[in-house]
Amino acid sequence: MSAPVLDVTSGARMMWFDPADGRAIFADNRQETHTLCDGRTLTIDPDVCCDFRALPFPDDTYRLVVFDPPHLEKLGKTSWTHAKYGALFPTWRDDLAAGFRECFRVLKPGGTLIFKWNEVQIPTSTVLSLAPCPPLFGHRSGKASRTHWAAFLKPETEVES
Ligand SMILES: C[S@@+](CC[C@H](N)C(=O)[O-])C[C@H]1O[C@@H](n2cnc3c(N)ncnc32)[C@H](O)[C@@H]1O
Repeated sequence: MSAPVLDVTSGARMMWFDPADGRAIFADNRQETHTLCDGRTLTIDPDVCCDFRALPFPDDTYRLVVFDPPHLEKLGKTSWTHAKYGALFPTWRDDLAAGFRECFRVLKPGGTLIFKWNEVQIPTSTVLSLAPCPPLFGHRSGKASRTHWAAFLKPETEVES
């Protein structure tokens, strides 16, 4: 499966302009379908079902990696938010640090990581500090400006862990 882009938490691909974009591999740890309260169907059907903490992809493979992990620790298991975005485990610090490490491992040297975070419960600065290197720049967007986008560049030489 060759493609320049890897989305490691693709969920229902809601942020993609083309959810079937052939340039990307879509990965997630769930494969499931939900009926939302308004009757719409939410389908999570990744190309590869895997865990972002241990990605089944070789080192130095993708030009662009997208990491949009769950951002909520406290939420109802039967809520639509849980169905759409999943939830963090109590081990979220270790989990997100492992996710960042894996994203950088599978990126080509000089490749770009796009990270998305909503800081409704956990500050963006706390989460960015879990990455192996600082981001280049970021952008606030979304409801009440709590959603942040950040771009990272994988160094040409190995990232120290
Ligand atoms: C915020 S949602 C992503 C939404 C997606 N970007 C979109 O456009 O719809 C986070 C996703 O991460 C997935 N996820 C949670 N833990 C994971 C893990 N350990 N490995 C891979 N995916 C995980 C969830 O199943 C959920 O679909």
